[in-house]
Amino acid sequence: MLKVGLIGCGFMGTMHANCYKNIEGVEVVAFADLRRECAEKLAEGTKAEIYADGYDLINNADVDVIDICLPTYLHSEYAIAAMDKVKYVFVEKPVALTKKQGAQMIKAAKKTGANVQVGQVIRFWDEYVKLAEIIKSGELGKILNANFRRLSPIPTWGWNDWLLKNELSGGAAQDLHIHDMDYVLSQFGKPNKIKSVKNIAGEQASYINSLLVYDDFVVSVEGTWALPGTHPFEATFRVVFEKGVVENAGGKFMLYTTDKAEEIKIEKQEVAGDGFEGGNVSDLGGYYNELVYFTDCAKNNTKVERAILCDGASSLNYVLEEIKNA
Ligand SMILES: NC(=O)c1ccc[n+]([C@@H]2O[C@H](COP(=O)([O-])OP(=O)(O)OC[C@H]3O[C@@H](n4cnc5c(N)ncnc54)[C@H](O)[C@@H]3O)[C@@H](O)[C@H]2O)c1
Repeated sequence: MLKVGLIGCGFMGTMHANCYKNIEGVEVVAFADLRRECAEKLAEGTKAEIYADGYDLINNADVDVIDICLPTYLHSEYAIAAMDKVKYVFVEKPVALTKKQGAQMIKAAKKTGANVQVGQVIRFWDEYVKLAEIIKSGELGKILNANFRRLSPIPTWGWNDWLLKNELSGGAAQDLHIHDMDYVLSQFGKPNKIKSVKNIAGEQASYINSLLVYDDFVVSVEGTWALPGTHPFEATFRVVFEKGVVENAGGKFMLYTTDKAEEIKIEKQEVAGDGFEGGNVSDLGGYYNELVYFTDCAKNNTKVERAILCDGASSLNYVLEEIKNA
């Protein structure tokens, strides 16, 4: 049994706990949260230990891997402490708040030899994984242009409203838009040029739109969390190739060519789930996939090779540059 210690039992910690419940050979044996009731809720019905702070868990719990779902400004210090304790550490995205913190984490990983995976979950999301396969196959010819959008109402759930404080979360660009930037960079590499526009509402950068210029095509990446609460969360993309268009929008994943419009089918894993709404694993989306990958690496003692620390830090640095130059 792989023993997991989960630090931070808020929104994302709850999601991760639900995923672990559905991964065979994995058990969360220790939860830590300043809000004891949040940790207790996740531990309900199990023998898991409860710790009041992340450091208590790191110092005292008997765990094989540590998963950090803390507010972004706390990632680096807890991740570095966790690297001293265990060989496998998962840290939510964005990897850190600042470039310096990201570099310190890389240094600690090199020193300890710890395997660190960053929660750049889009790399594990079915539609985006399929798109990556299509791009790699070259079956639709060259890319002509692409756009990726992530639009959200303002996130109001954060502990002490940390998400709404730019100096703690980095705002919409760093917290939300980084998902698409990380994916685009993973697929197309370093652009020749980036032009960004942002707007600041109140204290935070609430909207950002960037154009990434490559040799033969341009990618537009747009993110906001300034939508009204009644607007549904939206994550979409459209990639125009020479021989067709792949589009994920309006709940449909489609391939359009000159002759036909067809739905791209993705085999969803239908497993009777436990502890989350919907009742099957596919409802947990990329979160489940990324944690299956992470725990498999830990179980098999293999190197983490997807969403690695350097990639997370590199994506963070790109986004910080966008914010600075916008
Ligand atoms: N991958 C994604 O799609 C995704 C989505 C949402 C959030 N996130 C990321 O996950 C991380 C957590 O965000 P969230 O939305 O869960 O925030 P949250 O505010 O809901 O949860 C954070 C939790 O950490 C606890 N906490 C704070 N300091 C602590 C400490 N020292 N020790 C123990 N517990 C402590 C708080 O009590 C709170 O319960 C952030 O980095 C965020 O950007 C990722």
